[in-house]
Amino acid sequence: MTTQPPDLKEIEKEAQDLLGECDTPRKLEEVRVKLLGRKGLITGVMRELGRLPAEVRPAVGKEANLLRERIEAALAEKKRLTSEEKEVSEPLFDYTLPGRTPWLGRSHPITQTIIEIEDIFRGMGFEVAEGPHIETDYYNFDALNTPEDHPARDLSDTFYVDKGILLRTHTSPVQIRVMEKKSPPVRIIAPGLCFRRDTPDASHVPNFFQTEGLYVDREVSVTDLKGVITAFARELFGPKIKVRFRPHFFPFTEPSVEYDFSCMICEGSGCPVCKRTGWVEISGAGMVDPEVFKAVGYDPEIYTGYAFGMGVDRIAMIKYRINDIRLLYENDLRFLRQF
Ligand code: PHE
Repeated sequence: MTTQPPDLKEIEKEAQDLLGECDTPRKLEEVRVKLLGRKGLITGVMRELGRLPAEVRPAVGKEANLLRERIEAALAEKKRLTSEEKEVSEPLFDYTLPGRTPWLGRSHPITQTIIEIEDIFRGMGFEVAEGPHIETDYYNFDALNTPEDHPARDLSDTFYVDKGILLRTHTSPVQIRVMEKKSPPVRIIAPGLCFRRDTPDASHVPNFFQTEGLYVDREVSVTDLKGVITAFARELFGPKIKVRFRPHFFPFTEPSVEYDFSCMICEGSGCPVCKRTGWVEISGAGMVDPEVFKAVGYDPEIYTGYAFGMGVDRIAMIKYRINDIRLLYENDLRFLRQF
């Protein structure tokens, strides 16, 4: 019995159509069975070969073998492609992994303290002002009634950048800068960095923060100063805090005081932070000296005012119970992360 030789071109086209459709490993396996399985298309062709007339058999057999090789190669290639596709199309994400904790930044304890100070004073009608870190000796000293021979102006106390130019030793020059620009009433606070030639120890560093306060109007008195400082202390530390004013001297205020807060760490019984006195010195304050008003063109017969400083680092230390000021400037994250 003889048969027509199979139409190998037609069969190859059919095989290619089948292969073209498979895009997953499972479909590929189905197609492989359809082509090369026991009842497969190509298997069928090979089986038919025996029935061909002897004259055509070798030539057709050779073609059929080549076709089978091409189909096998195409299947192998498809297998490679579908498994690669599988890898990229399936997410590489392991849902059982613990989530990544986002890095949350936070404000430095000094910044947090300044923000709180600003909030409290804003609530009492103060505006926030700023001045430069690098000052002239006019703003830092002369306009603040501090004479040429005052010890604070010494090279051993102040960082000079150049002749007459220095790193401000306090925030008080901001008083002058604000009053030069504005006529009374003036009610500002001015937080910022200050610099002094100090050897670092538990309570001194060469750069530190102050907040200046200034209130100028008609008929401002010492009572207003004491009231505002006390209200601030109670707002920040609670109603139990006590405030103490001691006579002092500053060239730019008259009369002048230094003021202390009762130590919130030991509540007055004595600890290393308050040096066993029960009180922590915060800064100085006083009624603006008429000489300062003259320097900015305010009439001291009409206006009075008070000014105060505030050691921000000291307030932060009481608030967060820090016993060494240097910790605030080492930028050790193990320390800073606690606040
Ligand atoms: N500037 C002063 C200091 O740094 C503090 C102060 C400010 C005193 C305002 C009086 C008035 O010590």
